[in-house]
Amino acid sequence: MALSFFVFLTFALFSLSLVARTTTTTVGVTFSSATSATHTKPLSPEQIASTVKSLGFGSVRLEVSDPAMVRAFLYSNTTLLLTIPNHQVPVIAANRSNAVRWLYVNVVPFFPRAKITTISVGNDLLESTPSFSSFLIPAIRNIHLALRDLGIRKISVSTTFSFINAVTTSFPPSSAVFQEPALEIVIRPLLQFLRDTNSSFLVNIYPYNLYRLHGEIPIGYALFQEHPFNFRDDLTTGVRYRNLFDMMVDAVVSAMAVAGHENIPVVVTETGWPSSSADPTEVEANAAYAEMYIKGLVKHLKSGIGTPLRKEGVSEAYVYELFDKEVKTGATPHGRSWGILYPNMTNKYEIEFSGSYRNYQGRNSLELIVGLFLVFALFHGFLVFPLL
Ligand SMILES: *[C@@H]1O[C@H](CO)[C@@H](O)[C@H](O)[C@H]1NC(C)=O
Ligand SMILES: *[C@@H]1O[C@H](CO)[C@@H](O)[C@H](O)[C@H]1NC(C)=O
Ligand SMILES: *[C@@H]1O[C@H](CO)[C@@H](O)[C@H](O)[C@H]1NC(C)=O
Ligand SMILES: *[C@@H]1O[C@H](CO)[C@@H](O)[C@H](O)[C@H]1NC(C)=O
Repeated sequence: MALSFFVFLTFALFSLSLVARTTTTTVGVTFSSATSATHTKPLSPEQIASTVKSLGFGSVRLEVSDPAMVRAFLYSNTTLLLTIPNHQVPVIAANRSNAVRWLYVNVVPFFPRAKITTISVGNDLLESTPSFSSFLIPAIRNIHLALRDLGIRKISVSTTFSFINAVTTSFPPSSAVFQEPALEIVIRPLLQFLRDTNSSFLVNIYPYNLYRLHGEIPIGYALFQEHPFNFRDDLTTGVRYRNLFDMMVDAVVSAMAVAGHENIPVVVTETGWPSSSADPTEVEANAAYAEMYIKGLVKHLKSGIGTPLRKEGVSEAYVYELFDKEVKTGATPHGRSWGILYPNMTNKYEIEFSGSYRNYQGRNSLELIVGLFLVFALFHGFLVFPLL
């Protein structure tokens, strides 16, 4: 009897440490090439690359792929996520040789010296150009097959959704499903493709936008502030949410599960908080809140505790965005500034993005607490299995 307890205890702690060891989230940043177009003194790709590295980001997402930018990351350990612009999707869907041509410009000259990991075919295409949605899956397949033709197997292919346009609800997360008709046209075949190719589901997640749509959400809940009343319980799954970000991630996880795919990794391609807005009614778009959000986000991702439904959390998350687009051009919708840097490259916030994204100390003490609890529970004959 005692022996089986110990075997069980060992097994329990072993599984826990397995989970712990695989929990890492890469924190990256999005760079929009629109930024260079709107800046009075455009920065060189080399300046941008060294800024990304010096800030300590492990990964960079190019909102529009640009060969000069990819070149600037040659021989660096920064991984790259490239995006094919929406308007090129029908062309690439039409003919695989167009896909090969795109890869010859954007990937072949640089890979593997530049660590390109992912190509997103389009960004929020369903919303911005819905008439192209039937081209999305053929374009993704063509890029995938073209990579295989070129003998490249380490780059995964996907597309990027925006949360608000893809998922029906964020609360409770367990009741979320994908919106029709996107589910049947795009998402269902995409999920099958992602599973077959070991690729990730890419989604832009903005608690800021959801907060603005639902005034009843407490601001601290959107900003990762810990407070005794900052929680919501999902009564179906019986889990407690302490921030809006986790709730939105788990809504995506639930929607995938309902569509029959529980284990596809999630990458948050964009998330952030604006430090200002041209619209004076957006009082929450301020630097203090933006710093709280990004700090809270990075701390949460580094803690390695994941979300209630995804213990390993999201595999990557990209802060939106590196630089403010210059507001005077009116290029940004609603004139919001999302950058973590001013156009003159000075930091807006004091945030540590670098280092190991794993809180060893936190995890060790968590393991210790859970371990002690298990010992305690075993001695008292509690049923501990549901804990795992
Ligand atoms: C990249 O990572 C490898 C292995 O961790 C390390 O040896 C190398 O120095 C790094 N290169 C750069 C440019 O940081
Ligand atoms: C694809 O493009 C190539 C070269 O442009 C052309 O030779 C081929 O006929 C095209 N295939 C289709 C199915 O349109
Ligand atoms: C996906 O990953 C599994 C396990 O790591 C591996 O066996 C399989 O070959 C991979 N499939 C593809 C298409 O890369
Ligand atoms: C950079 O721009 C910001 C905002 O316009 C300003 O507050 C700051 O002083 C500038 N820094 C330098 C070094 O010019």
